[in-house]
Amino acid sequence: MPYTIAVLVGSLRSESINRRLALALEKLARGKLVFDYASLGDLPLYNDDLWQDGRAPEPVMRLKDVIGQADGVLFVTPEYNRTVPGLLVNACDWASRPYGQSSFEGKPAAAIGASVGAIGTAMAQSHLRSNMLGLGLVPMGRPEAFIHWKPDHYAEDGSISDEATKAFLQSFVDSLAAHVERLS
Ligand code: FNR
Repeated sequence: MPYTIAVLVGSLRSESINRRLALALEKLARGKLVFDYASLGDLPLYNDDLWQDGRAPEPVMRLKDVIGQADGVLFVTPEYNRTVPGLLVNACDWASRPYGQSSFEGKPAAAIGASVGAIGTAMAQSHLRSNMLGLGLVPMGRPEAFIHWKPDHYAEDGSISDEATKAFLQSFVDSLAAHVERLS
């Protein structure tokens, strides 16, 4: 049985390179992992007042369900101003609450990200890794995946034309599957 992975993509852009990267990973992971994409664009900004009797607005409850029912979590993050985009931070804040009922608790997790910049989201992922520990997630150590985006390597249907990139991303999803299996 493949493991289910809650996938949080930190961009809403229709032409997002990080969404394109997630689709490429999904294709490589077939048979081992099933990707369940969380919807982040309809979440309100975090506000403690929106919790009423343990429930928050529906988009929040759906997010908590997607994460809660998954065997693991994958963040596919852009880097904004050398850190994690607000979209992802907001989603993490919601999913971590109410206090003591974090949807993330004890789940295996990994981060990857693509940027047009040379460091390929390294700073954002460094911050995200420490956030993951605070959220109760168990981050995969290696491989680290800082993707310097080359548009001609990735097709719209998720296939990858560059063999070295494909092999590296295959090793990333295989390691994630092994990480989830170890903790399941
Ligand atoms: C960026 N970008 C960017 N890139 C980077 O490598 N380091 C950075 O700190 C930033 N900062 C940043 C801030 C803001 C507000 C924006 C909108 C963009 C560029 C970013 O890598 C590029 O826009 C990517 O295409 C964003 O990912 P998606 O949306 O294509 O997935």
